[in-house]
Amino acid sequence: MKKKKIVVFTGAGISAESGLKTFRDSGGLWEEYKVEDVATPEAWLDNPVRVLEFYNMRRRQAVGAKPNPAHLALVQLETIYDVQIITQNIDDLHEKAGSKKILHLHGEINKCRSSIDDSLIYPVKGTDLKMGQLCEKNSQLRPHIVWFGEFVPMMEHANILASSADIFIIIGTSLNVYPAAGLVNFVPEKVPKYLIDPQGVSKDYIPNLNINRKKAGVGVPELVKNLLK
Ligand code: OAD
Repeated sequence: MKKKKIVVFTGAGISAESGLKTFRDSGGLWEEYKVEDVATPEAWLDNPVRVLEFYNMRRRQAVGAKPNPAHLALVQLETIYDVQIITQNIDDLHEKAGSKKILHLHGEINKCRSSIDDSLIYPVKGTDLKMGQLCEKNSQLRPHIVWFGEFVPMMEHANILASSADIFIIIGTSLNVYPAAGLVNFVPEKVPKYLIDPQGVSKDYIPNLNINRKKAGVGVPELVKNLLK
């Protein structure tokens, strides 16, 4: 029999209990840094060293981070469901946990790419990406991250995946950043949806939504237990 499909949409909140900072909470990254200084194409042109250093710090933290009970519980769902993770996160905690199908909407911290040819993508050697490290076409390597103002190449594919969900789970995202936040609009109305986020505010525009205002490390294992019953 064909397995039911669960699509899981994750944001920075799922990695918070693994020690990685979120963006918009108090103490979040966008309190410490200005988006326009480190996460836009203009910032890269203006001060590439500063941009590289920002992502080198993210990479150093991500390397040491371990998946928490939320990442691990999602892997358990694969015993009876076809599970597709769609993450806005650039860390590799879903991979470390062992999830099989993972789509990164905003890029991956452990990869870099050519600054003149988006198809030339490489693993970052070591933890730091430095000025002078070049692609095979001799242009500077940049972080493999989707910056503000850039096209989100995986969005259309993600929307198609969301439209085929039998169950949709949202974890730890403020749903503030578009087009990623628009993913939920592609999920059919009748599909049951779950949101796990301590600050999950009512989302009247999302039909059939069950909100659990708990931390991911507690709320996700609970939900997974129920879905495996
Ligand atoms: P945000 O920082 O906007 O939101 C984090 C969410 O996680 C908030 O709703 C928190 O309430 C929630 N949260 C905090 N701790 C949690 C926990 N322990 N368990 C569950 N939830 C928790 O992060 P995102 O929504 O992921 O993009 O941000 C979206 C995008 O904006 C990011 O991918 C990044 C950022 O700027 C780019 O850099 C392009």
